[in-house]
This record gives sequence, C-alpha cells and structure tokens, in this order.
Amino acid sequence: MKPYIYITRKLPEAVVESIRQTYEVKMWEHEDIPVPKEVLFSEAQKADALLTMLSDQIDEEILTAGNQLKVVANLAVGFDNIDVKTASRLGIAVCNTPDVLTDTTADLTFALLMAAARRIVEAAEFVKEGNWKSWSPLLLAGHDIHHKTIGIVGMGKIGETVAKRATGFDMNILYHNRTRKPEIEQKLGAVFTSFEELVEKSDFLVCLTPLTPETKNLFTRDVFKKMKQSAIFLNASRGPVIDEQALYDALVAGEIAGAGLDVFEKEPINAEHPLLTLPNVVALPHIGSSSVETRTDMMKLCIDNITAVLDGTEPKTLVNKDWKPLVNA
Ligand code: GLV
Ligand code: GLV
Repeated sequence: MKPYIYITRKLPEAVVESIRQTYEVKMWEHEDIPVPKEVLFSEAQKADALLTMLSDQIDEEILTAGNQLKVVANLAVGFDNIDVKTASRLGIAVCNTPDVLTDTTADLTFALLMAAARRIVEAAEFVKEGNWKSWSPLLLAGHDIHHKTIGIVGMGKIGETVAKRATGFDMNILYHNRTRKPEIEQKLGAVFTSFEELVEKSDFLVCLTPLTPETKNLFTRDVFKKMKQSAIFLNASRGPVIDEQALYDALVAGEIAGAGLDVFEKEPINAEHPLLTLPNVVALPHIGSSSVETRTDMMKLCIDNITAVLDGTEPKTLVNKDWKPLVNA
C-alpha cells in the first residue's frame, strides 16, 4: 500500500502531481474553508503524513488519532498550532517553512510600517470615496519613517531582514531578543537593548517574536503606556503576543499613534472587530508570506519534508531537532 498523505487545504494540483505516483494524496476540497476537526481526526487516523495550515490545531487528539503518522509539515514558519512536545514523544517529525518566506515576510512587514506611518490605506480610501476637494498643507499628514528609531522584538531571520530594509531608510535600529546577535549588530548597526528600553525609545515597534508561553500577552496595557505617544505598533508574528483589548484602549486613549496588524488574537476577525473602527489602524488578513512565488515555495518545501521523512531520511526544515529517522520504519 502507498503511504497516505493528507493535505488540510486545497493546493494547486501542480504542487502535488509529481508525488501522486509514489503516494496516495488527498486534499481537503476547499481553498478558503478550514478542514473541520472531525474530518481532520478521521484523516489523521489513516495518515502517514499531514500537510497542515496554521489555522489547524494539531493537538494530542489529532497526533494520537492513528498509529502510523510520521510527519506533520506545517505551511508556515510558526508552529504554535502544533503540540510539538507530544509529536516528539510519539516520534512524529514536525516541519515548518523557514528561510523561503523570510524576504517576502520582511517586505510585508515593512509595507505595513510604511502604510501605517504614511496613512496609505486611509489616503487611498479618501480618494476613492471622492473626498479629495483640494490640496491642503496638512492633508493626511503622517509620520516620517527615515531617521526614526525602529525597535524589533524578535530578531530571527525575519527580524534581521526587516532591519536590513530599515538601513535603507537611515533608521536607528534597536532590537530585543532572547539571545544577542553580534553579527547583526556588526553588519546592520543594530543595537541590543532591554525590552523596556526598546519600548520607551522606539518610534516604530515591530513585533516579530514567535508565540510561546513566554511571549503570550507580552504587550500589555502597561507596555503600551510606556511607548512614545507618537509610536506606531506593528505586529506581523502572532496575535496572542499582544493583549488586543489593551492595544485598543491605548489607541483610544492616544497613548500611541497608530498600529499596523497582520495578525489577530482570534483569526479571522470580522468587520465588527473594535480595532477596525479606528482610522489609525491598518489591518491585514495574515498575508505576511503571501506572494505567489513564496507560497508556492512553501508548499514545495512541505512536500519535500514529507517525502524525506517517508523515505526514512532527515527533512530539510525540522522543528523537533531531537527527532531521528526510524531505522526499519
Ligand atoms: C505565518 O504566519 C507563518 O508563520 O509562516
Ligand atoms: C521567526 O519567527 C523568524 O523571525 O525567522
């Protein structure tokens, strides 16, 4: 019997056609509707491999549904939706898609920064709604980006690549990270600071830290209160890293100047979400890595990781580094 790969979303056939000879491959039938938990559970009972989305909760129930699951390949760099500890205990490899999405996600993060600073979305809507009656000296005046201070929380590869873009805008670069990155300091002139100092000094505070128990609710009302009143907060990592109510309150109270958000506490959000009522919030539907090129590369990387594990070899981008290919699998 061919090993069975279940893909939790409809992907372009071109991405999977090459593996159909060797593997039995099935995809959830919708492109824009997540697979229901019951369907995922029953597929996981039979699957040798799952190719999952960040919107799927891969918990112990799913991981233990069957007894032949060998690999979960997540179409994202983040893997907070997967119970990695349980996967490791069960000898299941967990893979993500770092590197291939770094530049694309940094581009989007910087676009979000620029959009929030220069009020691009508000201005574009203003024109489309027919409100442009005359040029005026302070019409939609925003905030400068060049020569300002950017503070990056989470200096992984994406953080570094955002910092590289910031050098082109002559920005002062601060960062905070669990571990110091001397090479980045040397190469880009980034300065390592405490979290508190970064919060107090940044004109643009960019959150790129993965969601972990330590970073959950890292940005509280107290943290927002310590920011500059002119500061703009950007989040391109995971929604639960910030207390969304606290961000809303800080924006309403004028404690910070604006926000650009690609991620939210509970996704998707609907039009009634309180943050969407604020003109100084730019909201995007979690599209950080969403270019056609990069999403295609991410899909291919997931497939490569799956076939590596099913062939009994080490996958390219393994999350649980303690995992080893099983001899005599
Ligand atoms: C997207 O958020 C990702 O983790 O790739
Ligand atoms: C991870 O989140 C990264 O910044 O590469």
